[in-house]
Amino acid sequence: MSGIALSAARLLLIIGGGVSAYKSLDLIRRLGERGATVRVIMTAAAKQFITPLSAAALSGDRVYDDLFSLTDEADMGHIELSRAADLVVVAPATADLIARMANGLANDLATTALLATDKKTLLAPAMNVRMWLHPATQRNVETLRGDGVLFTGPDEGEMACGEFGPGRMAEPLAIVAAIENALSASTRLALASGPASAMSARRDGPLDGAHIIVTSGPTHEPIDPVRYIANRSSGLQGHAIAQAAYEAGARVTLIRGPVGIPDPPGVDVVRVETAREMLAATQAALPADIFVGAAAVADWRVETQGAQKIKKDAQGAPSLALAENPDILAHVARLSPGRPRIVVGFAAETENLIENAREKLRRKGCDLIVANSVAEGSETFGGTDNRVWLVAARGETPWPQLSKREVARRLIDHLVKLLDNHI
Ligand code: CTP
Repeated sequence: MSGIALSAARLLLIIGGGVSAYKSLDLIRRLGERGATVRVIMTAAAKQFITPLSAAALSGDRVYDDLFSLTDEADMGHIELSRAADLVVVAPATADLIARMANGLANDLATTALLATDKKTLLAPAMNVRMWLHPATQRNVETLRGDGVLFTGPDEGEMACGEFGPGRMAEPLAIVAAIENALSASTRLALASGPASAMSARRDGPLDGAHIIVTSGPTHEPIDPVRYIANRSSGLQGHAIAQAAYEAGARVTLIRGPVGIPDPPGVDVVRVETAREMLAATQAALPADIFVGAAAVADWRVETQGAQKIKKDAQGAPSLALAENPDILAHVARLSPGRPRIVVGFAAETENLIENAREKLRRKGCDLIVANSVAEGSETFGGTDNRVWLVAARGETPWPQLSKREVARRLIDHLVKLLDNHI
């Protein structure tokens, strides 16, 4: 079964127990407006946040919540409930629901339907940032991805609990877009008989079969065994691009400098410290279809690294002789043969953003520069949002202020289009 329009789709929406459950009511409304039929299951915890009556009023159907009432022959069985849908959507997908799914538990109607379905499942996770970043949750997410489960979000931002970071449920319209995306491919879940076929279940994204290399984070250039030259890059944008590429079906190699954020699940990660190590890792990872240089590579390294810690002495401050680091982006863009089909660079500027980005595009020989301002007050470094301009030979396009995850998703969509147009 492939290519179902949203206007003809039958969706089973499972609402988990989280603060963002109220957004699921809006999701039902948006889906209804677009002609989709939505049947709703609520977990017991979800009913602590919203009432079944509101969900029923918006979906125009009763809300299903009791596993045992469905065993009644007169009622719809849970198997039928899960199979009559074209797609199963879980929003919000709480840490608990994700954990139960990853372990194949079926101890309430929601998890029983999720285990019984033969259709694809799309999850919109929502939880506290620590819970999302916890290795147990990341492990469960990775397991589910391997099973062919699709994900949208979570977004970054301020949480209801006052903390900041990834964990907010994707906005209803973003979930609608992800549903349309999922419906446009085959909605039937490939029944996994082993790891290989489990992987192939999610291998239907627009970058299926493509290899993308992403560099991310800063580099550290040692001065002596305890000191180094570095910059303020957090790696958030590069990591988000790696994740979005993976979600689009690509094989991803993420070459990352020292960062304090977790590696996105599902991608091959190479950890490096210096620019020269980053270049070597890039060369080892090639060939690739796409190269995205999102790392803030240090332009210079100390020419001769001290073997011992440099001590203060009577001569006063030492002077450090600097040597220029290899330009990884320019190196990759000028490879012949072996140049990736698309080479993307970043330009972090404090002034004359577009002009400098255009100059960088020419000088480095890449196809696209994602330009952003790192001027004082821009909060690009370390912040969760980014305001970028896409600068290409053809001209430049400003994007609105977006979360770095959204910038990543849009960038991947843009690269898919460029690949389709055989640039
Ligand atoms: N880059 C790279 N290797 C380097 C320096 C930069 O691959 N040694 C890449 C970055 O990953 C980014 C782009 O080049 O994609 C722009 O880096 P930036 O430091 O802003 O540009 P520079 O060429 O260093 O120019 P300047 O510092 O003068 O702005």
